[in-house]
Amino acid sequence: MSLEVEILKPAIGAKVYLDRSMIGDPAVSEELLGLLEKHTVLVFPRIGLTDEEQLALTDALGERVNVAAQVPGKSDASAVYQVTLDKDAGIEPEYVWGTFFWHMDGLTVDVPPPKATILSARRLSQKGGQTEFASTRTSYEALPTDEKADLEGLRVVHTVTAAVREVAPAEELDEARRSLSHEHPLVWTRSNGKKSLLIGYTGDRVVGMNQAEGRALLARLLEWTAQPAFSYRHQWEEGDCVVWDNTCALHRVLPYGEQSGRMMHRTTIAGVEAVT
Ligand SMILES: [Fe+2]
Repeated sequence: MSLEVEILKPAIGAKVYLDRSMIGDPAVSEELLGLLEKHTVLVFPRIGLTDEEQLALTDALGERVNVAAQVPGKSDASAVYQVTLDKDAGIEPEYVWGTFFWHMDGLTVDVPPPKATILSARRLSQKGGQTEFASTRTSYEALPTDEKADLEGLRVVHTVTAAVREVAPAEELDEARRSLSHEHPLVWTRSNGKKSLLIGYTGDRVVGMNQAEGRALLARLLEWTAQPAFSYRHQWEEGDCVVWDNTCALHRVLPYGEQSGRMMHRTTIAGVEAVT
């Protein structure tokens, strides 16, 4: 099996012409995992998955995980998470507004960060709503040697309050979310020897540095990683599905309005490698 692939950016992103009937074929799954490893972001243009098909794709690529249900008190959350600002959908808007800012999923809890996230475009906004991805692996690799040496051994505390600090004061969060916090190395050395940065708006402070120095370092690394050489902006079309490697990529959405009707369906694949 050889899928038709079109490179979007050298550092990140490939378009893959996947047919829905191929989902679940072990050879296709293996090829997709190889492409994900190589390109970090895979776009399946206008594939038009149903929730069932999206869950089948999720299961074909790894172990499905219900991230929303990991938050204390939210154990009944659906495995297909609706990302929308529509108040009728019963979501927490400050959490969705938090997606306007660069982040990696799952850094504030003590479980291996999700291996991948899958997003399907159900309804688009007229304006905004593009999703951007930035490779924390290629951005790390491109750092000067002396800067890489300076980062070795540093650790960062990631919190939900930091993730939403631009959109909601900590006291507005429910207690369960406010208390979510986890410490990670700034540079993650993977079992395959590759290194990537663990950064994003969840990064609250660098252990052992004063707040200004630590946050300035994190902000600078974020700006470095977000530059066009390491990032890809996806202009959604209805029915598009995108899967990205959450262990070596940041993502954010360009702002869209509360009344836009934008609706994305998200599923998550469990992490298989703990951060050490
Ligand atoms: Fe996210």
